[in-house]
Formats: sequence, C-alpha cells, structure tokens
Amino acid sequence: MSSYLFASSRCSVSRFSLLLGSSLPFFGIKSSAPRFTRLRHTSKSWAHLCTRSSSKLFSALSSPPPAHDDVIMLGIETSCDDTAAAVVRGNGDILSQVVSSQTDLLSRYGGVAPKMAEEAHSLVIDQFNLLILLNCITVGVQKARRLAGVFNLPIVGVHHMEAHALVARLTERNLQFPFLALLISGGHNLLILAHKLGHYLQLGTTIDDAIGEAYDKTARWLGLDMRKGGGPALEELALEGDANSINFSIPMRQHKDCNFSYAGLKTQVRLAIESRMISMENNPISLANLDDRRSRADIAASFQRVAVLHLEERCQRAIEWALKIEPSIKYLVVSGGVASNKYVRARLSHVVENNGLELVCPPPSLCTDNGVMVAWTGIEHFLLGRFDPPPPADEPEDAMFELRPRWPLGEEYSQGKSEARSLKRARVFPSLTSMIQGSVQN
Ligand code: KG4
Ligand code: ZN
Repeated sequence: MSSYLFASSRCSVSRFSLLLGSSLPFFGIKSSAPRFTRLRHTSKSWAHLCTRSSSKLFSALSSPPPAHDDVIMLGIETSCDDTAAAVVRGNGDILSQVVSSQTDLLSRYGGVAPKMAEEAHSLVIDQFNLLILLNCITVGVQKARRLAGVFNLPIVGVHHMEAHALVARLTERNLQFPFLALLISGGHNLLILAHKLGHYLQLGTTIDDAIGEAYDKTARWLGLDMRKGGGPALEELALEGDANSINFSIPMRQHKDCNFSYAGLKTQVRLAIESRMISMENNPISLANLDDRRSRADIAASFQRVAVLHLEERCQRAIEWALKIEPSIKYLVVSGGVASNKYVRARLSHVVENNGLELVCPPPSLCTDNGVMVAWTGIEHFLLGRFDPPPPADEPEDAMFELRPRWPLGEEYSQGKSEARSLKRARVFPSLTSMIQGSVQN
C-alpha cells in the first residue's frame, strides 16, 4: 500500500477512465431509467491520482485515433463521500450513470469518517460488481487497473478538477478552448484559464478553505439536516432569511488578485452564532422555535450573500485578466458541487453578462462529483492519444500508482501569485499541465 501518497488531512480520491471500446462487453450498472440512476447515500475529500511515472502518464497512440462513436469509456470516481461510475460514448451519449453518496454517514458523524466511508464504498462497489473489499482510497484505482488488466483495456488517469471543468464541453458543444473556468467544490476554489486540453493557467486558488467546506461547516453549526448535504440544506434555509441582516466582511478585498479565502468568513459565522446564543452542538433546527429558526436563516442568507460576493469579485477580476491574456474568450464555465447552487448561478450569470461573456454551468447532477465527468475527460485525452497501456493482468495490488494530493492543474499565473498563499503552501508535485507539456516535448 505504500505506493500511495495521502492527502494531508483528508482521505484521497481516485478517478480513472477505462476505454471499453464498442466491441468489448459492457459492464457497469445499466440504469433502468434511460439516462440516470441515482443511488442516494454522501461525504467529502480528494487528492489526485495518476500513474507512478510521470513520463508514462500518457502514451502516444501509434495509430490514428478511432472515430468518436467507437470510443466507449467507463469513468470511475471514488472519494470519501461519493462512489460514482458512468459509461459514456465518444459522441457524448451517457449510456449509464450511477452515484452513491454516504449522506447517512456524514450526518451521523458530522464529517468524513474514513473507516465508515471505506465500508460504504465497498458495499456500493460490490453492487456494481466492480470492486472488492479494500479501503476507500485505493478501491477505485485498484479496481480500474484490475479491470483494465483483465480485459486488456487502455486506461487514463484523470485529474478530478480537470474533469469538473471539461464536463462542460459535453453539455455545451459550442464550448471551445480557450475558456475561463471557476471550479468550486468541497476542497477547491480554482480559477483557471483553459488554453487547450491539458494546458491550464491557474489564475487563482484558495489560500485556506474552499467555499464548499464553508457551506458544510456553517450548515452543521446551524443544526441543518446534513443528509441532503450541507450546501443544499444551507441554500434552502437561506431562502427564509434576510441576506442583509448581518454585515459579514468580504474576504481578501485588500488583495487585488484572484485568490480566495473562506476561513475568516467561517470564523465570522461562528461568532455570529455564538453571539445569538445558538448552541452548535446537538441542536437540530427541527427543534428550533420560530425566532430561533429565523435567526439561523438570517445567518445562512448573510453567509451565502458574502460567500458568493467573494466569488463574484474574483470572477470579475479573472475575466479582466483572462481577456488580456486570451482576448478570444467567450465563456466562463462554473462547475464543481457548489455550482449546483441556484443563487451562485444567478449571481455569476450577472457578472458574466456584464462582461459580454456567456455562462456555462453543467446541470447540477454533473456539477457534483460523478462518473460522467471522469469518463468524458478520459475520452478527451484518449482521443489525443494520451493514455496508459493496459496494466498486466496479474499486476500486484500495491505496486503501480500513486495518489497526488493537491496535484496542481496548471501553472500559476505570475501576476496571480498571492503573498498570502505563498506563505501557506509549498508545491509538492509538478502540475498536470507541465507534465503534459513535458511529455509532448520528449
Ligand atoms: O465537487 P463536489 O461534489 O465534491 C468535491 O470534489 O468536493 O463538491 C461537494 C461540495 C460540498 O461541500 C457540498 O456541500 C457543496 O459542494 N454543494 C453545495 C450545493 N450542492 C453541493 N454548496 C452549496 N449549494 C449547493 N446547492
Ligand atoms: Zn469534485
């Protein structure tokens, strides 16, 4: 098991795409509904995955790539909160999709419980008939490699955040490179300029928490029902509140860059809760009287207004920067779990329209973690000849890959480097973009 690198404070995630090919046997769960099956369940985390040797991350095709319709990809996404798989055809048809979240576990334990997550993954994956009892960090990867080995299929390691961005190209066929993307999830806030496939410039990132983490924590402190997920529960409660009732300050205004910070807003929320004498422990909102509920709704609405204002301000600046670098940009993609929030979508659509651009938001089911985005990203890379050959059928379980916690997607825009951020984090891995550029040159 030592070939894995673990994300520091979070469990890790695996994402893989397998090329099934049209002549190969179909596997995965075929949904009874024509396009989607959703098994409910939940929780959170990430890290990124790729093969051990960066030079082998992608192998060039020796023969011309196949026609799009001939490519069928199985995407596998496993994290501490979700297990998802999907089968997607090269032309974008979603042949099957399943998502299982561990909501019950999250609500019972108030966060990720890795051991529980591990067990739930195994149960669900067993239903898929894909995975055996292994811990949640290795489960998706090992099964993907095992399947690829047994069926002699090429395999593509997929960067989770790239998959969040690229799934927008499946839902919006006019979306050509270059484009700007805001990726907002439980662990990431990223503003990237996508020059072309595999070539990304990072305009901004979070210096501490991501917005999804702030939504989840606030929801838990307010005693919301976490079974539907902290973000959706908070979005719902905010509809009852007065968004201007509390004047939380907008993060990082003094930093004229595109980076994010949500730790300070979380602290402001905690103080607001404490000052209203709302207990943060074992205090479900279902037991609150009308005044108490109103008070919590005001906090939720005020938090959401300011959390999203921070996104709006950073997007405005990112659009200005991006248009200077790539004047042909027409789209802002907003994706990741938080992009399923209606208030977020509405506010960002104003920013985008004011700048003469178009907003592309995948449907909510493709914004939150899903197998389709992994399969689609696998297809995009495969069609450019970037994939690994089938692993040996008898590959030992612990030998062939490593997880890359906080694997950067792109190089940092030099103007975008924040002093606050560089103090916080040293980069551990070369970015996906630099690896791809390197393999192209070699
Ligand atoms: O991308 P995602 O599904 O998983 C990660 O990669 O983290 O994002 C999950 C995050 C969670 O923090 C969840 O609370 C948040 O997205 N989220 C929302 C909404 N739906 C999911 N946040 C706000 N409003 C929502 N409707
Ligand atoms: Zn995600």
